[in-house]
This record gives sequence, C-alpha cells and structure tokens, in this order.
Amino acid sequence: MISIEELATFCKKKGFVYPSSEIYGGLAGFWDFGPLGVELFNNIKSSFWRFFVQSRDNMVGIEASIISHPKTWKASGHIANFNDVHVICEKCKKPNKLDKNEVGKVNCIHCGGKYRVIGNLNLMFSTNIGPIEGNTSYLRPETAQGMFLDFRSIVDTSRVKLPFGVAQIGKCFRNEIAPRDFLFRSREFNIAEFEFFIHPNQLKCSSLTKQHLDIKVQFLSSETQEKGKEEPKPTSISEMLKFKKLDEWHAYWLAEQLQWYVSIGLNMKNIKVREHTKSELSHYSSATFDVDYLYPFGSKELGGNANRSQYDLNQHIKESKQDLLFFDEESKEKVIPRVIEPTFGIERAFLAVICEAYEFDKERGNVVLKLDLKLAPYKAAVFPLLSNKDELLKLAETVHKELKKDITCFYDKSGSIGRRYARQDEIGTPFCITVDFDSIKNKDVTIRDRDSTKQKRIKIVNLKETLRKLINGEVDFKKLS
Ligand code: GAP
Repeated sequence: MISIEELATFCKKKGFVYPSSEIYGGLAGFWDFGPLGVELFNNIKSSFWRFFVQSRDNMVGIEASIISHPKTWKASGHIANFNDVHVICEKCKKPNKLDKNEVGKVNCIHCGGKYRVIGNLNLMFSTNIGPIEGNTSYLRPETAQGMFLDFRSIVDTSRVKLPFGVAQIGKCFRNEIAPRDFLFRSREFNIAEFEFFIHPNQLKCSSLTKQHLDIKVQFLSSETQEKGKEEPKPTSISEMLKFKKLDEWHAYWLAEQLQWYVSIGLNMKNIKVREHTKSELSHYSSATFDVDYLYPFGSKELGGNANRSQYDLNQHIKESKQDLLFFDEESKEKVIPRVIEPTFGIERAFLAVICEAYEFDKERGNVVLKLDLKLAPYKAAVFPLLSNKDELLKLAETVHKELKKDITCFYDKSGSIGRRYARQDEIGTPFCITVDFDSIKNKDVTIRDRDSTKQKRIKIVNLKETLRKLINGEVDFKKLS
C-alpha cells in the first residue's frame, strides 16, 4: 500500500492538493486544492448533496455563516467542553493531543517516550468582531450549530413536517495541537452533515428496509474496547438493533451513510464501525459510532454518526429564551424534536477515495486512478492521433468543443498516444477519445476505457449521449456495440 507521504507527493505532482502558502514554507494544518483537486472535491460534495438532500422529500439544506453569535458556543457546550489534552513527549519533545481517557495510557506515537500533560486546549479559533477589543467570537468547529440556530426560521418558512433533516456543507476550523497525516488532521477543513429531527416519541422508522438491515460491516463494540481489545466482528445492522446499540432511526442513517460511502467507490472491506465508549462520548451525544476507513496509516475515523437527542435545541432554548418547539400537526403537540446526526469530513472522504482508487499498473508502467466515474475530475479526454495533420486537429477540436458544453473534458495533442493515455490514467479520466484517419471518412472515433484499456469505435453523433450513459452507469463499457 502507498504511504501517506507518497500519496501527498502524488497529489501535489498531479495538481490535486498543494501545501498552503508553500512559497513561505507552508503552514501546518492548511492545504489548497489544485485544478484537479477542486473538481474531485466538488464532485464529492455534489454527490453528498444529491444523495442526502436533493433526492429526498424530507431534507432541506442551508448555508449558515462561519462566525455566529458567541452565545452559540456557550449554549452548545463548546466553550466549556471542546478541549483536547495537550501533551508533550519528554523524550523527543513532539507535541500531541490526547482524549482525556487516554492520559497515562498511551506513549509517544513518534518515539514511544512518556507524555507530560501541558494542559487543556480549547480547539476553537477565536477572533475579534469589529474594532472594539474584547468582542470575541469563534470560527465554527462544526456546521451543526447553524442548523440549530436556524431551526425556527426553517420551520416557519419551509413547510417541513417531522421527521425532517437539515443539511449543510462548509468550512470548519479547529486549532489542532498536532495536525498530521496530510489532509486527515488539518486545522481548516470541510464537514458535510445533517441534523435529522424526529418526534421524541417516534422510535419506529418506516424507511428502514431489509436492504438496510442486511448490511454487514466490521463492528467494534464499546464492550470489546473496554476489555482492551480492538478486534471488530462482522455484524449486521439488524444485529446492532437486536443488541440495542442504537434505535431504528439511528440504524437507518448509519446504513444510508455506509451506502453513500460505497457509492463514491469505497470498499466495505476497508470500513469499520466503531462504537464510542462511555468515557469518550462527546458532551452532546448519548450514542456515537465512528465510521473508520483503512488509510495507509491505519483504520481511522472517516465520519461519524451521533444521537444528539434533544441536547442542542434544549441548550439554545435556555440560552436564547426563544421558543424552539415544533408544533406537530399529527399529534397536535408542541415538542422538542430529538436529533440523529450523520457527519462526514469531506477531506477525509477525499483522501479515502484517492487511497481506494490509487493503483500502480505494472503492465502499463503507470498509476491508474480508478475513481468512480461521477467523481473523476475529467470525464473524457480528446486526442488527435497526430499533432501535425490539420484535418485530424480540426475534427478533434470540434469534438472537444462539443463535449465541453456538457462534461469536463481535456484536449491533448502533445506526445505519443501511449503517453497521453498514461497521463489521463494517472488522473482518473475514465474515457479517452481518439480522432484518427478513419474518423474523417466514417465520422466516428475510438473510445478507450481507463480500467480495461479496451477500445471501441463509436459514431461522433452518438458520442455525447453514450458518454452520458456510461458516466451515469446506465450502460456498461463492455456492452457498448
Ligand atoms: N457535528 C459533529 C462533529 O463535528 P466530529 O467527529 O467532531 O463531529 C466531524 O467531526 C467529522 O469531521 C469527523 O468525522 C471527521 O471526518 C472530520 N474531522 C474532524 N476533525 C478533523 C480535522 N482536524 N481535520 C480533518 N477532518 C476532521
């Protein structure tokens, strides 16, 4: 498996991710997406939005401000509780952060030395609003609070009925003590998450189907961890319900979350669900599951799924003195909904997608990035067979111009055809279109499949529609006539 350092080098070389402010030596914990990275990143976000928001009747989206009233963070508990224990290794002097339950139990990850506790560090970045000193607020460490702050406005303006969800994707900031592992632990990153509001007495979930219940995943229970063991067991969602690990709505959203990860190309064999132990639960959660992915540096948190119950709305009612109750037409009651929150670090999804797709093909002698077709930065590349034949150039340029109206498409006339294919393989372009001498006579082109390297001829008039069908999975390359 490729190391995380090699992956960072690959991402930089190909224009996916650059260290931020590199001309000044970089800034730890901050990264920039390059021309290909921004396409892949946006495609992951669009896939999330389509899967969880636009394709559902009971979900709406918002985009809240990054800085909100400072009372937000008092009410949410982040000022009091969003702390890591700052430690320093007595031997190699490298800093790290620990959860409070790890103190005294773990040694330095770099040299195995003993840690000395420096103190608690609140992870929120603070800033001063306006010219008068002391007007402190914070850059949001999660997007969730935006959904609670806007709860009243959403209910009053969107005709939502319980149960419903509010989703958001956006920048979050955490002043991590020891950012590391490339994009995995940074100080500025994006979270996609939603708060799903449910009547507090509604325990049954009518959307939970056999398909959800039958999903099997490697599951690491809190009991196993409390015994000091780390061995997960293949467990179905229905077994988790049977063991009372979660309620039906929580099970439904965990299953949907796993399905989305699979839909963006992650393999279930690299995924594990880890139940939080009682001592590590966040201040707002009554049950949390991490969805871990097998990164090159180990199986680590990719996303999470928490039962936030009525905690946040209750806190904001207390702090703001506003009425944040929901009038439920069906039961004719005013209630404080309970909340299930699936959360997705988008940089971590980006990293997992690249790890999963990265493959060095010995026969070809180059990397093939086997990205899911809908995520690929370029969907196609167009080449004239030779760069010194005007008739080939003219037709290839016309084909490219036409495709570009609908899909991301790259035009390349430099180097040998083999080299051009290799360059597209390395950045995950699923289809390469070549205009050759027969194209001029027959008004057709060759289309080459990234994963199999097989080629087929296709009429230019049908090219755009065929590519659309291939990318949407409506037709398989093997079955193209
Ligand atoms: N609203 C819930 C919440 O914020 P979290 O587990 O603290 O939960 C959500 O964070 C997700 O954000 C995590 O599952 C992870 O994917 C991502 N994340 C957290 N800290 C991160 C960091 N320092 N760098 C990159 N991603 C991070």
